[in-house]
Amino acid sequence: MMNITVLVSGGGTNLQALIDAQTRGEIIGGKITHVISSQKDAYALERAKKAGILAMTVAKSDYETSQLHQAALLEALKDAKADLIVLAGFLTILDKSIIQTFPNKIMNIHPALIPAFSGKGCYGLHVHEQVLARGVKVTGATVHFVNDIPDGGAIILQKAVEVYDEDTPQTLQKRVMEEVEWQILPQAVSLFCQNRIKVKNEKTYIIEGGTSCKG
Ligand code: GRF
Repeated sequence: MMNITVLVSGGGTNLQALIDAQTRGEIIGGKITHVISSQKDAYALERAKKAGILAMTVAKSDYETSQLHQAALLEALKDAKADLIVLAGFLTILDKSIIQTFPNKIMNIHPALIPAFSGKGCYGLHVHEQVLARGVKVTGATVHFVNDIPDGGAIILQKAVEVYDEDTPQTLQKRVMEEVEWQILPQAVSLFCQNRIKVKNEKTYIIEGGTSCKG
């Protein structure tokens, strides 16, 4: 079984989608063992506790510098013996020391079709505001591995939804979450835990079938 640690900062609906998928037996070969929040009051922590998952906070505000915060985060991830780290609405950019310790073992969900509407400063509702301002007809979400370029790692899964004329950033965000994020994130996690994602030259390849690599 692979140990999955989920990093959160907010409401945690993507975490909930992972917990629900796990309950349905859809996370094959892996188990969410830890949830770590960067915010003390994140509702995601309640969701973790309700599901009986070890929940803790490594808050930025408790550390004098960003480096000390990142070092504490790295320690917590090592202590958790994380095989896979999932960023699910985690609002801190991880520094090199963490990314290099877990190469192609950290995944993130981004609420747009990367490379569109991605990169530094493109997060949360801003993404959907930019999508509407540009007038694109489809958007969606992307699960990707994390490297040291924001939203720049290898793409794992993407799925599109239509943009409607009457959409607001809020309605679009809701549709992208419900119809895409909550589906493709658990799918990507399950594929990883079955050792079915191969990375070559910054591209991923999904292997058909397959079994869990750790039992
Ligand atoms: C989602 O839109 C996700 O794509 C983005 O942040 C939001 C997190 O929401 N990275 P939640 O905390 O999972 O509800």
